[in-house]
Amino acid sequence: MAALLLRTESNTDRWVAALGQVLPELDIRVWPIGSEIREPVQHEHPDEIEYALVWKPPTDLFNGLRKLKAIFSVGAGIDHLGNDLVLPAGVPVVRMVEDSLEVGMSEYVVFQVLRFHRQFHVFEQQQRQCQWHVLPQKNPADCRIGLLGLGVLGNAVASNLVAMGFDVRGWSRTEKNIDSVRCYAGMEALQDFLGDLDIAVCLLPLTDQTRGLIDAEFFKMLPAGSFLINAARGGHVVESDLLNALDCGHLEAAALDVFEREPLPEQSTLWRHPKVFITPHCAAQTGPESAALKIAEEVHRIENGQQPLHAVDLSRGY
Ligand code: NDP
Ligand code: OXD
Repeated sequence: MAALLLRTESNTDRWVAALGQVLPELDIRVWPIGSEIREPVQHEHPDEIEYALVWKPPTDLFNGLRKLKAIFSVGAGIDHLGNDLVLPAGVPVVRMVEDSLEVGMSEYVVFQVLRFHRQFHVFEQQQRQCQWHVLPQKNPADCRIGLLGLGVLGNAVASNLVAMGFDVRGWSRTEKNIDSVRCYAGMEALQDFLGDLDIAVCLLPLTDQTRGLIDAEFFKMLPAGSFLINAARGGHVVESDLLNALDCGHLEAAALDVFEREPLPEQSTLWRHPKVFITPHCAAQTGPESAALKIAEEVHRIENGQQPLHAVDLSRGY
């Protein structure tokens, strides 16, 4: 019987119950047992561990796990594994592609888009000053939204925004053809893509190519009066350049779910900036129950000698 090594920062009981439902044959071991994390990591029966489910694992978590068949990331992103993690050769890293993430991200982006499109950010300010001032309602077809990243989450968000009548554009590394979405690909198309947007939404993985992409140059390419929504990773944005773009009035406002340092330090200017709307990295959360179904599917594929559906290309970084 295969054993699963489980390490999550929260929801552990929910994960154990959800996995137990769909993979009753798995003996689930929670690591670390109790609150104490011993270094270096030691496993009691390393040769029994065939699958691991992890978020921000210690760098030596997989040492000695010779029977490991797959490592599952609790999240869609894999940057939390870090550069120093020792990955066993030939063992696939499988990322999370599951309904709760798609629903959560669609809701988050739709909410933030509506905040800016319907000018709720202005009404909130007006309320604080007891001002009653009606602003004209704008047509969604005149609101140009650009999604940086047209992967699983970018596609889910795009179909919701298209259904609401927004003018949706997207940018990815490779060429795409998506109904009702004007698609751009590659760095050479970034200027054309950004130059004509009202709202830019970051849904990229954090890689060597995308780190720091949203910098002073990027803001210059965006039209004056545009908005930024970052639901991907804090490392995509150069925070000092973002503050400059907001303070000089070029960028109208920003909704940020992710930050270079999390939790966002209390002294960060972003907390108190009147044009910044902050959430604590919760745009989309993996649902243990919906994710367990996908993990079971991947485990069955691997046990049957097939490749997992969502193995990450580690050389590409996502
Ligand atoms: P996918 O891997 O499915 O999609 C990534 C997209 O980004 C692809 O379209 C890819 O292009 C594009 N991309 C990658 N590198 C580049 C580049 N150098 N230039 C242009 N485009 C690029 O990822 P998901 O949609 O599942 O998730 C995206 C990210 O969202 C995650 O990596 C994570 O960081 C973040 N996330 C944040 C959450 C939150 O709560 N804040 C929750 C879940 C995820 P191509 O299609 O051509 O390969
Ligand atoms: C993820 C996240 O990558 O929650 O899934 O950030």
